[in-house]
Amino acid sequence: MRRRTVLKSLGIGLGGAVVLGGGGFGVYFAAAKQDTVGEIAFDTPLRIPALAEPANSASGAKVFALDLRAGETRFKDGPATRTWGVNGAYLAPTIRVRRGERVEFAVRNSLDQATSLHWHGMHLPAAMDGGPHQPVPAGETWRPQWTVDQPAATLWYHPHVHGRTGDHLYRGLTGLFIVDDDAAGALNLPATYGVDDVPMIVQDRAFDGDNQFEQPVPLGGSLGVIGDEILVNGTLGPYFDVTTRLVRLRLLNGSNARLYNFGFADDRRFSLVATDGGLLPRPWETDRLYLSPGERAEIVVAFRPGETVELRSYPSEHGGALGRLDGFDDVLDICRFRAATSLVDETEVPAALGDVPDLAGEPVAEKRSFTLASDQINGRSMAMERIDFGVRADTVEVWEVVNDNGFLHNFHVHDVRFQVLTVDGEEPEPALRGPKDTVLLLPGKRYRLAMRFSDHTDPNVPYMYHCHLLQHEDNGMMGQFVVLGEGERVGAVPHEHHS
Ligand code: C2O
Ligand code: CU
Ligand code: CU
Repeated sequence: MRRRTVLKSLGIGLGGAVVLGGGGFGVYFAAAKQDTVGEIAFDTPLRIPALAEPANSASGAKVFALDLRAGETRFKDGPATRTWGVNGAYLAPTIRVRRGERVEFAVRNSLDQATSLHWHGMHLPAAMDGGPHQPVPAGETWRPQWTVDQPAATLWYHPHVHGRTGDHLYRGLTGLFIVDDDAAGALNLPATYGVDDVPMIVQDRAFDGDNQFEQPVPLGGSLGVIGDEILVNGTLGPYFDVTTRLVRLRLLNGSNARLYNFGFADDRRFSLVATDGGLLPRPWETDRLYLSPGERAEIVVAFRPGETVELRSYPSEHGGALGRLDGFDDVLDICRFRAATSLVDETEVPAALGDVPDLAGEPVAEKRSFTLASDQINGRSMAMERIDFGVRADTVEVWEVVNDNGFLHNFHVHDVRFQVLTVDGEEPEPALRGPKDTVLLLPGKRYRLAMRFSDHTDPNVPYMYHCHLLQHEDNGMMGQFVVLGEGERVGAVPHEHHS
């Protein structure tokens, strides 16, 4: 089996990792860039994650039952792959709710180890956040509940157990969480799920000779696990049959470490309409879009009848001299779109989209700075018992974040959406002018992020901020803050929460 792995990896030839030995650990180095253009069969229909079906509680809340379990998934010919999933063998159903709705979850952990489910991008009480302080032991059920109160957006959910987040996501625990609201619903954007409003969870994976997931870390690489095959919604080599002129894609970079530079094979332009936290004020037309791990984007693409075109990830200009070790030079075909000979044409990209509050002129209650380097933030590693600071509810803070060690990082803050005020003192590029909860940090640049904290105060239960490159996060590039009500002071993490 080892031999087959070696042959298979070598067989990729131009690309990918070469195994020098070491079986499960695998010592890897990137031989050269990968280029899968023309190599992908695109013979499998894109799987669309099912919409989770809620029950209604007596009080009118929507109740979702989520069962985390191990299973097997057939991604390719040969043996099935051992995977994890929610209510299925791989990935998770899409949760879809409206702003204002009360939601309740029964998160049952049928796995053989503790994990958690974190609602990435959600504004909610810290005790419901599903981070490292809310582990769900094997065999137990966790019942978080809250009222959804934030603008329409494409959020997602995934495990967040300290030190094992990367492993648990890689095995397959990842789903989308779509919030709808009246304002977004009144726009004439494509909005029929799976038809012209298409979820795309993009993940890289590496398979061994037995079709099992491997977690290859390139030797000399700086980001963590980089795979050589791309799954979209768990589909390898997917095609999507387009039946409408305009299609909205809800892109999630659900990879552990890989940076994507999305574009189409013919360089057609598309409209970015929403980022992590919801709609942009107005669409931005582009032909390329970077997404780092954890970031989302909603784009609208136009198709012509009868045509075929691929979504692709192009090389990144942010890799530096050693970038090829981390896949920055790769060209990866992701999904083929096949347009029908006649296309329904009933939607549009409106000139004005979201009503995004501008925090630039707001009084700033507190300024903080964060330097990311060496798997630490401000020289400290994540410690479960240490609350790094408290923020005051109903105030605006400005966080200045710098990536200081030359490698790629990003920065994610729980509970809030933030506005990128400036990058190195300049107005940010258009893709960063929408509401964000995760932002790519280019080495050496200074990002000023403005955010307003509100309600859900709790002096004892922290929210996280961290790099969303999961190996960095698991190694401790993470910190904790609490949201304080008036007169409250930073408390202490309750002991029973330690796993
Ligand atoms: Cu996507 Cu702290 O998480
Ligand atoms: Cu999060
Ligand atoms: Cu990082």
